[in-house]
Amino acid sequence: MEIRRFRVEDASALFQVFLSSIHDIASRDYTAAQVEAWAQADRAPEVWASRMRELQPFVAEAKGKIIGYADIQPNGYIDHFFVSGAQSRQGVGTLLMSRIHDEARLLGISQLTADVSTSAEPFFLHHGFQVVERRFPIRRGVMLQNSLMRKDLHRKP
Ligand SMILES: CC(C)(COP(=O)(O)OP(=O)(O)OC[C@H]1O[C@@H](n2cnc3c(N)ncnc32)[C@H](O)[C@@H]1OP(=O)(O)O)[C@@H](O)C(=O)NCCC(=O)NCCS
Repeated sequence: MEIRRFRVEDASALFQVFLSSIHDIASRDYTAAQVEAWAQADRAPEVWASRMRELQPFVAEAKGKIIGYADIQPNGYIDHFFVSGAQSRQGVGTLLMSRIHDEARLLGISQLTADVSTSAEPFFLHHGFQVVERRFPIRRGVMLQNSLMRKDLHRKP
């Protein structure tokens, strides 16, 4: 498996990872209405592609297939973190997280933050993040509970 930087032609494959991740993994912790509001399967491709160009995520690829992606922004915020349903619990997320930590070190970032889904919270806890605040944002008229999580990088995990 390879972790590499985003290329513009990855955008539609990343959308499939995003959908699979929400429908196959996060759906265990969110209702059908919440999954629908979150995944927004009808999202316009050009809007999605432009968002991915902004985020510039790292991409996990195995045998030519993209199976996960995650970003880190210059302020240490992780906006997207998704692994395909079929590849869950095989260490893909951990490789992406390790690459994010490498990048944070390179950029001199001292703190990572993310608005983390209920489904991903155990994974972020496993990687040394702590819950700062439980949140209840509304997306497309539906409440999607998540948690602001943070990790200070100057402390050992
Ligand atoms: C969260 C996510 C990215 C984790 O990716 P992954 O490739 O499955 O993670 P890993 O295999 O590297 O897991 C590493 C460790 O994290 C913990 N972990 C991961 N998923 C977990 C879960 N659902 N429940 C409990 N612990 C979990 C475990 O300790 C795991 O080690 P183990 O499998 O040896 O027990 C993935 O499950 C996902 O995409 N979830 C749905 C989408 C989502 O909510 N994204 C986050 C938006 S903020």
